[in-house]
Amino acid sequence: MPILPILKPTGTTEGVTIYELAARKGTTSFLPGTSDETYGYNGKLLGPTIRLRRGEEVEIRIHNELDGGQVTNVHWHGMRRIAASADGPNNDIPPGGNFTSRFTVNQPAATLWYHPHWANTGFQIYKGLAAFLYIEDEHSDTLALPREYGVNDFPVIVQDKSFYPDGRLAYMTHPDEEDRMLGDHIFVNGVFNPYLEVPRGMVRLRLLNVSNARRYDFAFEDGRTFHLIASDGGFLPAPAAVTSVSLGGAERVELLVDFSRDAPDARVKLVSRAFETWPNERGPIVLVDGRPELSPNAVGNPFAVMELRVARPGSSAGIPRQLVEPDWPRESAARVTRTFRLNDTGKPTINGLRLDMKRIDADVKPGATEIWAVINEDENFPHTFHVHGIQARVMDRTIGGMPVPLFPMEAGPKDTVLVRPGETVRLLGHFDELTGLYMFHCHVLEHEDLGMMGTFLVAPPGQRPADPPAHGHGR
Ligand code: C2O
Ligand code: CU
Ligand code: CU
Repeated sequence: MPILPILKPTGTTEGVTIYELAARKGTTSFLPGTSDETYGYNGKLLGPTIRLRRGEEVEIRIHNELDGGQVTNVHWHGMRRIAASADGPNNDIPPGGNFTSRFTVNQPAATLWYHPHWANTGFQIYKGLAAFLYIEDEHSDTLALPREYGVNDFPVIVQDKSFYPDGRLAYMTHPDEEDRMLGDHIFVNGVFNPYLEVPRGMVRLRLLNVSNARRYDFAFEDGRTFHLIASDGGFLPAPAAVTSVSLGGAERVELLVDFSRDAPDARVKLVSRAFETWPNERGPIVLVDGRPELSPNAVGNPFAVMELRVARPGSSAGIPRQLVEPDWPRESAARVTRTFRLNDTGKPTINGLRLDMKRIDADVKPGATEIWAVINEDENFPHTFHVHGIQARVMDRTIGGMPVPLFPMEAGPKDTVLVRPGETVRLLGHFDELTGLYMFHCHVLEHEDLGMMGTFLVAPPGQRPADPPAHGHGR
């Protein structure tokens, strides 16, 4: 498994660290003997991990070097306390153009990521534009956790892709792919069926699901217990022992897995276990001897993702008893409850509407705490709901009025949640003081591209701009 490089700063001026990112094209061989054009940040596929520290002031200079007339932009997924004006969705970068994003990192340690957020987000991410953004702080520095990048702390991006017989990437070509891309090959950090050499000790994996529409239920082939230590927005209060973890698109989880009792040359597979699916989630359909059939790697089927090979001595520091209590919003401070109805019968919509950048769907007071009740009205498809600019506490989940358990990783802060058919998920969010226009949307990338997205404006009452930004988001 290739380890994605760490982005080195190109300089500092007046205490501001400067980074350079270029979205560009390259050629990647996904399957033996074939190759295709792919996109990457500072490379041909995916991109470098940006590692920032809390309190750091940064300037990230983004260049659009994708030729062929493509607009792009870069969204800092999971980032809090930065002005909307420093984020991608409000700042399209024309072909050959630049955008400089300047902000101060002001949130707890977390595994975030970055990706385009334009009208064809699904295609650009599928072609390779996605990478990690880590935030470190005094807790991530001092907790007894593996933290050596690429040695015992590994970035793991999981994606699915499909191919034409000649090996070129196929995007939305199957008859069952009306509004979601499902691939039949699973890739880790851009490589099919890789192996990773790990120390014989405690290993930290940071899993990120960058699949357009697929969810996984990650587990180890031998069913071993592992510990979740962080979710989308940072650490859990304490490690949670589990044997599998379900991850929808854009969700992240950090886990600890102990190899100290394995044989010195043990091999253990990371798999996606079998799980129940809804009718519109099944797929993809592949041709077997010319006949359409469900892929062996169909959503919900069990399959291997990668192999971990114990290859060198390591140390087992044990599992910390405590991690960090998230800086939760207070429920008693919530004055506003809003409802968001997800529906994909016909066209994907939220509250019956598709995105209109000129329409403000929610007016939020700076510094407000709100409850957002997200309801999936679909019978046949689980959507993933994502909100920019906050890390929410999942308050509860109910199906048909009956409470159902939260996922174990929901003991930590979340920016993206799975909402199953008929389910209501209540999120408690604290909106920061920084004003601007933000969005919420389904993170199934094709749903997002079809406008299953809305806007919210954070502005003091009476200071609503007469006209929301006329440019941005390419719609
Ligand atoms: Cu990861 Cu609005 O997106
Ligand atoms: Cu986001
Ligand atoms: Cu959706």
